[in-house]
Amino acid sequence: MEMLSDSEDDLCRAAAALRSGDLVAFPTETVYGLGGDAFNPAALAKIFEAKQRPRFDPLIIHIAEVSVLERVADLTALDAEMRKALDILSAELWPGPLTLVLPKKNSVPDLATSGLPTAAVRLPDHPVALKIIRYSTGAVAAPSANPFGYLSPTRAEHVAEQLGGRVDYIVDGGKVRVGVESTVLDISGRRARILRPGGMPRERIEELIGPVDTAAAEGPLPAAPGQLKSHYAPRTGLYLYSPEAMMAVPWNKSEAFVFFDGKFRDQWIAGNRLEESSGGVPANIRVLSESGSMNEAAANLFDFLHELDNPQYTAIRAVEVPETGLGPAVNDRLRKARAEAKDNPQPYQGQTG
Ligand code: TXA
Ligand code: MG
Repeated sequence: MEMLSDSEDDLCRAAAALRSGDLVAFPTETVYGLGGDAFNPAALAKIFEAKQRPRFDPLIIHIAEVSVLERVADLTALDAEMRKALDILSAELWPGPLTLVLPKKNSVPDLATSGLPTAAVRLPDHPVALKIIRYSTGAVAAPSANPFGYLSPTRAEHVAEQLGGRVDYIVDGGKVRVGVESTVLDISGRRARILRPGGMPRERIEELIGPVDTAAAEGPLPAAPGQLKSHYAPRTGLYLYSPEAMMAVPWNKSEAFVFFDGKFRDQWIAGNRLEESSGGVPANIRVLSESGSMNEAAANLFDFLHELDNPQYTAIRAVEVPETGLGPAVNDRLRKARAEAKDNPQPYQGQTG
């Protein structure tokens, strides 16, 4: 594995590597992706192998121009209403954290889509990702660059630690901006349906195209790949509480605590009589956003969990966040990261990856 910078020379090298079938991890605005040429089945096979990802869980194809859509998606097979939705969403929300599931073109290898008749496509909002895609073949398949089931990477170091031996290059673009994966919206049928809550809030999508459905809790497998209850999980057991339930959980120096905002942390510290006599807030207590900004909370979520997933702590105790903006995406990741979910691998609503 070689670490690359975001210099023009290095991005050209990264793109050349992709063209020759190598794997390149690169930053997007959501999380780091593990990229391979979307049209090269051997590169796609390497992605599944590197991530230890089950072959039934399809990949997202990343493009850098809307015009490339026609190379991967069969737009003539779209329902008329959904065709309009595509035009609006791609014009308004791309580049951005929105993945669209569309009828696929036959030229897209089955490995990319796990044999489904649809392909997931997105146009990321990150200059490094866009250049790498443009300088390569124009279509890069990339799942999040983590071992299957583990926390998603928000920094190049996370990729190096988890997949360093399994990827040819990692492009370092610093910490990502959004911090949770893209929203996956299926418009391949007659109605738009959210398969995975993510970095594009439902409200923003509905403002543009009206009400959208949510994937059924227990969809049949082919219609809803990657529906696993456990995902995004740290090795340290994570336990999730409502704010009310969290108030009853006592402080323990060998455990880590994750709160949404500073106000709740202060209440909890007071409730626990953990006065600041100990010289400030103990290091094992974190808040996702001191001021309660949901965007900041989402950006810090995986970053903090990476830090706290450390043998120094025997458990991570986290509190659910409000369901506004990116809140549903943050809560979805927290629920799937729970230790309980790990012990009980049953289908769970929403998408994974
Ligand atoms: O933000 C993101 O989406 C990141 C960055 C790297 O772009 N990528 C990402 O990929 O999260 P991954 O592979 O971790 O998650 C892809 C999700 C999975 O839940 C997968 O099941 C779903 O997209 N997916 C892919 N193709 C699909 C299809 N044809 N139909 C339904 N779901 C699909
Ligand atoms: Mg993933």
